[in-house]
Amino acid sequence: MPISTVPTLLNADAILTGLRALRERQPVKYWAFYSSQLGGIVTDPALMVIPFDDHMVHRGHGIFDTASIVNGRIYDLDAHLDRFIRSAERSNLVLPGSREQVRDIVIRTTALSGRRDGAIRYWLSSGPGSLELSPAAGAEPGFFVMIFAGLVYPDRWYTDGLKVMTTTLPIKPSLYAITKSTNYLPNVLMQMEAKQAGVDNGVFIDAAGHVGESSNMNVAFVTEDGVFRHPNFDHILSGCTSLRLLELAPQLVAQGLITGVEVCDIPVAEARAAREMMLIGSSIKVASIVEWDGEKIGDGRPGAIAKALLGLLEEDMRGGRERLIDVPYQ
Ligand SMILES: Cc1ncc(COP(=O)(O)O)c(C=O)c1O
Repeated sequence: MPISTVPTLLNADAILTGLRALRERQPVKYWAFYSSQLGGIVTDPALMVIPFDDHMVHRGHGIFDTASIVNGRIYDLDAHLDRFIRSAERSNLVLPGSREQVRDIVIRTTALSGRRDGAIRYWLSSGPGSLELSPAAGAEPGFFVMIFAGLVYPDRWYTDGLKVMTTTLPIKPSLYAITKSTNYLPNVLMQMEAKQAGVDNGVFIDAAGHVGESSNMNVAFVTEDGVFRHPNFDHILSGCTSLRLLELAPQLVAQGLITGVEVCDIPVAEARAAREMMLIGSSIKVASIVEWDGEKIGDGRPGAIAKALLGLLEEDMRGGRERLIDVPYQ
């Protein structure tokens, strides 16, 4: 609604009408939403709301995580929940129930959505009650789960590869980078800066000149001598996808496709000389970067190792029994 509209006093019915009109103007693919504040699950996107005075909204005091639904199963939920709980502890936030209860709500919300493919994003907030900084007296933490279509990237990222730039924005200090909080301002600005510059995404570099990560993805390399090399996780988010690929990558050593697997500090100069560079994450999976700051990476075409890693990940997402949870759809 244009802000020039003369504001009038609204009753509850008018608010519902307004919320529905908002969603009609801008259709969304949200299938189900659980809110501990509402005490249940809603499927009408107009009702997927949280109070404006929840400190997650106005102070960014909240955390989140995202897992994938693949073919009617949830992939690697426990790794994502472990990270969620670590982020909660670092943010001085308390889960409103046990880990098992939270896990159960995620699974039940997925079941109720009926969706067999998509994404699950869940948040823990410090709760409503004031516009202060510290949680309000008596604030109850909020737990929310959204079942949505997931982030979708252009096909060309997989067929032709991506172009990235070194961001002009400073990397988050380590404590904030390793915590998946709702403070994504640097990440948002980096992505916007890249798009405005005509490339696909940005890369953070730390003060020591080591490669960090991208906006919502990790970055990894294949060195000239064939080593799959990933930045240390002490100054970037512990990507669940990267951690899993580091476990799976030795299969490529056995096949003679790579010569080793390393997690270490990666100076920018070394990184630029890589044979392959790639983005890794739950939403993008694995996609080659073919150009960085206007310079080709390797031969400027998507790399064989990125493709092989994507194959390993897709196999794991569909067949890796111990990491898949069958969703109890009705
Ligand atoms: C900043 C950042 N780095 C890396 C990742 C990749 O993590 P994951 O593989 O768990 O999706 C994400 C996505 O959650 C992210 O937001």
